[in-house]
Amino acid sequence: MIQIQPARALVGHIGVPGDKSISHRALLLGAVGEEETVVRGFGRSGDTEATLAAVRALGAEVAEDEVDLVRVEGRGLRGLRAPEGPIDCRNSGTLLRLLPGLLAGQEGRFELAGDESLRTRPVRVDEPLARMGARVETTEGFAPLVVEGGELRGISYELPVASAQLKSAVLLAGLYASGETTVAEPLPTRDHTELLLAQAGVRVRRKPGRATVSAAERLALGEVEVPGDFSAAAPFIVAATLLPGSELYVHDVGLNPTRTGLLDVLARMGARVTVFNRRKAGGEQVGDLEIRSAELVATAVEPHEIPRLIDELPLVALAAGCARGETAVRGAAELRLKETDRIETVTTSLRALGVRISASENGFRVRGVPTRPKGGGMASLGDHRLAMVGTIAGIVSREGVRLEGPEAVGVSFPGFFDLLDSVTQR
Ligand code: S3P
Repeated sequence: MIQIQPARALVGHIGVPGDKSISHRALLLGAVGEEETVVRGFGRSGDTEATLAAVRALGAEVAEDEVDLVRVEGRGLRGLRAPEGPIDCRNSGTLLRLLPGLLAGQEGRFELAGDESLRTRPVRVDEPLARMGARVETTEGFAPLVVEGGELRGISYELPVASAQLKSAVLLAGLYASGETTVAEPLPTRDHTELLLAQAGVRVRRKPGRATVSAAERLALGEVEVPGDFSAAAPFIVAATLLPGSELYVHDVGLNPTRTGLLDVLARMGARVTVFNRRKAGGEQVGDLEIRSAELVATAVEPHEIPRLIDELPLVALAAGCARGETAVRGAAELRLKETDRIETVTTSLRALGVRISASENGFRVRGVPTRPKGGGMASLGDHRLAMVGTIAGIVSREGVRLEGPEAVGVSFPGFFDLLDSVTQR
């Protein structure tokens, strides 16, 4: 348990850890590459450590030259080998969903396990992978699961929900399938898999709302430069917006448009976030952000925006609590399937801190008041995003927040508290 003290402002310059989604993918694709893959700016966290251990267990050699520089000696497209025991995905939904896509094309029987939270989240990839010809046995739709590869055939798959993890699993299996594999998505989701596959030499054909791959002969990623994780920058963006007198710069942040929905929502609310130094690193857009504090007004967050800010919705709830007027978030039922049921946990936690928020079936409503929330106590429940929103709630509150389970931040951002301290003015 820690006590988060109210802060006056956030001032200074920071960089955030490498993007978690891209770091997972770089390791996974590196493991089935022909040559060495160099990952610069690797985002080290509980989740990506799970992927690192997984690819090692499957036979890839990983050299950890520096905290954020790793080299993966790939085993080739079909060269992964089943370890003795189960592969532990720990808390990582991304690992649990993406890895079976690659394993569907390997020889052998692979067992995947996860922690208590992961075991409550539907695997989902079993259905399309089975249609492609793999044998995937879940525990009534949940982990642990077993994947046995086979002769795969390409399918045309309509995602039942907008999920980048599900899309990625099918595209990865498509690398091993006869014919073409097409995935259509109801709304655009993060496209890091498509971009990295293209970088690795795979022909990925894309049209709005769909991506197609065919069987690959070899993958060679070469060097991956991982931009800063926008989702790790997000708590800082919201905190600097809410604390008067703040002037914060976040450098080298990934600005892939499938990830930056928070910037659009905050802009409508009156936030002052400026993007500068826009550039490209690999296939990804990158830039620097300047955030100055602003008084916010309420907005409506519509279903079509949700995938572009899914992991930032807890922070949107907090920002809305400090904005004038009523904010509604709709079409976010997927939040119920994250590390915790985030519709439930975010509304309950923020309400305990004085935010006037209520849950709906697929989102929440917030009656904002342009003052600091009172503060109080809440628990992370092992959910990293909940720990971070609780911390930001604490620094923008009047009385501070007692946070139980702060160590959950390590799942995505182990250095979160130190980085926050480095720019906090009391
Ligand atoms: C992720 C996709 C999203 C996101 C998660 C990371 C990814 O999940 O919430 O934190 O790396 O592909 P869904 O694909 O289930 O929406």
